[in-house]
Amino acid sequence: MKNVVITGVSSGIGLAITRVFVAAGYKVFGSVRKKEDALRLKEELGDSYEPLYFDLTDDDAIKAEAARVSEIVGHQGIQLLVNNGGISGGDAIMHVSIDYMKHIYDVNTLGLLRVSQAFFPLLKVSSANKSVKTKIVNISSGAGRAVRPYLGPYAATKHAVEAISDAMRRELMRYGIDVIIIEPGPIATEIWNKNKAKAGEYKYQDTDYATLFQKIDKGVEQMEHNALPAEKVGMLVLKAYTKKKPDTRYLIAPSRWMFWLAIHIIPDRWLDNMFKKQFDKIEFSK
Ligand SMILES: NC(=O)c1ccc[n+]([C@@H]2O[C@H](COP(=O)([O-])OP(=O)(O)OC[C@H]3O[C@@H](n4cnc5c(N)ncnc54)[C@H](OP(=O)(O)O)[C@@H]3O)[C@@H](O)[C@H]2O)c1
Repeated sequence: MKNVVITGVSSGIGLAITRVFVAAGYKVFGSVRKKEDALRLKEELGDSYEPLYFDLTDDDAIKAEAARVSEIVGHQGIQLLVNNGGISGGDAIMHVSIDYMKHIYDVNTLGLLRVSQAFFPLLKVSSANKSVKTKIVNISSGAGRAVRPYLGPYAATKHAVEAISDAMRRELMRYGIDVIIIEPGPIATEIWNKNKAKAGEYKYQDTDYATLFQKIDKGVEQMEHNALPAEKVGMLVLKAYTKKKPDTRYLIAPSRWMFWLAIHIIPDRWLDNMFKKQFDKIEFSK
């Protein structure tokens, strides 16, 4: 049985990837932060699922769980690490707090690096057997390639994930460990609800962005409306793992061609104006 480590499996994309790999016969070690999430997943998935407990910002907890997995898997090591756990948020770049910037980097970027470093010895054990595929899949975002306004901090963390992933892929070739980036556009998960403003608690009340941020949930709802099911990302990660010669990055989005154009073809000034029109419409709507 092949061993897979996945971060952030309590909901959304991480849960979908876990279900796809368990159904395909893999053993999944999936990280959660709450005991009740672990119990719920154990109940659903049985012995194919082993909970790991850590926060992505907690070095010691991550190292301790890597040591525990090492004892369980022994000379087999782990064949796949999926760095999925992360947070998002809508923020105006000139007003976002530096503390929040540090926190979102700590979770989305440094968390991915901490987990990769801690589990690297277990990937190396696996890759010593040349007949077994050993890979890391990093869940980035379309925002790791093209930046929507008011998603600047999140996009910055995902651009960093893209750079770290490229460095990893080029540096881990010597071990035969491949690194693949998944770049989802809008996917139907809890991340959307977590991002929505709570009634009466709008951000940036004392700034020029007050009116826009009172209505910005409309933009979130537009994206949510078009979102793809998380299972599609799960299937794509399985394909990226099993394929002999996978691409280095996969964009998965409802209007994939639009993302592709935004990344490769459309000039920055055109994109600037498209986003301006989109957000003016939201700000000046009734
Ligand atoms: N949904 C989208 O449209 C979309 C698009 C592009 C990229 N992505 C990326 O996909 C990944 C998964 O997001 P999702 O949409 O599935 O969201 P989600 O349903 O909110 O899942 C996020 C997962 O990350 C975990 N997590 C958050 N902060 C953590 C921390 N400090 N330490 C440990 N675990 C933490 C959450 O655990 P708790 O339940 O304990 O909070 C949860 O299991 C993220 O990297 C996100 O950036 C999502």
